[in-house]
Amino acid sequence: MRGRGARAKETNMPIPSQHIFVCINEREPNHARSDCASKGAVELHKALKVAVKAEPKLAGKGIRVNKAGCLDTCEQGCSMVIYPQATWLGNVTQADIPAIISHLSDGDPVNHLRIDQIGQD
Ligand code: FES
Repeated sequence: MRGRGARAKETNMPIPSQHIFVCINEREPNHARSDCASKGAVELHKALKVAVKAEPKLAGKGIRVNKAGCLDTCEQGCSMVIYPQATWLGNVTQADIPAIISHLSDGDPVNHLRIDQIGQD
């Protein structure tokens, strides 16, 4: 993975080594698919940003935590996806942040949160 300092050639834009997109989509109350915002996604996004910034192992690694619109995994919200691993996580709460930090820093598995492996062995 690229570390901090990697930049897009054309724009000189910093390229994250890992990029986390946290759905914070909000729908009207009682919508059939629900939404991540009503499950605490806005607070989860903020807390994950703070935790990433505070983790010494992630210092200088160029990791971004961005808000995202609907990831179409609403029923498993709070939802997020981590690239470049393409790790899709669901039913995430703030209690899961230490496991996510370990995944980002050490590659530890977060299988209990993964929704991209349902039905796969
Ligand atoms: S509302 Fe979050 S994935 Fe659809």
